Amino acid sequence: MGAVTVDRLGFRYQPAAGEVLKNISFTLEKGEIAALLGLSGCGKSTLCLCLGGIIPHLLGGEMTGRVLINGKDTKDYKVAQLALEVGLVFQDPDTQLFLPTVEDEIAFAPENLCLPVAEVAARVNNVLEHLGIDDLRYANPNNLSGGQKQLVAMGAVLALDPGVLVLDEAMAQLDQDAKIKINDILCDLRRRGKTILIVEHDLENVSIADRVLILENGLLIRDGQASGVLGEREFLIRHKLKFEEEPGMDR
Ligand SMILES: Nc1ncnc2c1ncn2[C@@H]1O[C@H](COP(=O)(O)OP(=O)(O)O)[C@@H](O)[C@H]1O
Ligand SMILES: [Mg+2]
Repeated sequence: MGAVTVDRLGFRYQPAAGEVLKNISFTLEKGEIAALLGLSGCGKSTLCLCLGGIIPHLLGGEMTGRVLINGKDTKDYKVAQLALEVGLVFQDPDTQLFLPTVEDEIAFAPENLCLPVAEVAARVNNVLEHLGIDDLRYANPNNLSGGQKQLVAMGAVLALDPGVLVLDEAMAQLDQDAKIKINDILCDLRRRGKTILIVEHDLENVSIADRVLILENGLLIRDGQASGVLGEREFLIRHKLKFEEEPGMDR
């Protein structure tokens, strides 16, 4: 059994509307980094919402098929319970940060689980150290750079120690240094056995992926080893994920 199993998943936002996800099946193994690629509007964020159980629990719409996280069918668990299994990080960290200090932000979810005070403190310390942001402990998240905010948003999710981490275009607004730093952290999380899905609308940022999944208009059109899929130049150009190099570019 995989860490994430998506089994014939279909979804439409309204009964009369078209299907945004169409009969999608794939499995992610423990300790694997997969990239989910596809043009804007192809259904990537909708799939992320399904992985976190926000669909079907908090959004309406019609879902068919199943999503299992570590064997747990998302239909049978509350979103708060699923947050212990799968952490979602979105593009805009401002939507995820709302407390006065970085420390409060990272302590929030474990405190809500009513973990003992010492356990909460240990988790906060671990996360701050692991992400290299201990010096920001008492900072107000509002005053941080985009890259720092995204690290705090990741920290808030990692404090629950989920086995699966999903980053929905989480690096889109970050500079190169911040992207490199986050990629290093993701590789370290992979070594610790976490399963990671990096969602991106282009081929940037996916250099660390073991697997590549490609979504087009709600259909999964490719699922393979990154080395194979990323080498399929003609296929990637045909599906607008890569552009023909302009003459003279590769001198
Ligand atoms: N809340 C919503 N209600 C209705 N349609 C939506 C909603 N969110 C997204 N969609 C539609 O679903 C499709 C897939 O969107 P999305 O999953 O956000 O794609 P991506 O993340 O790949 O850009 C798009 O056609 C989008 O307009
Ligand atoms: Mg999206």
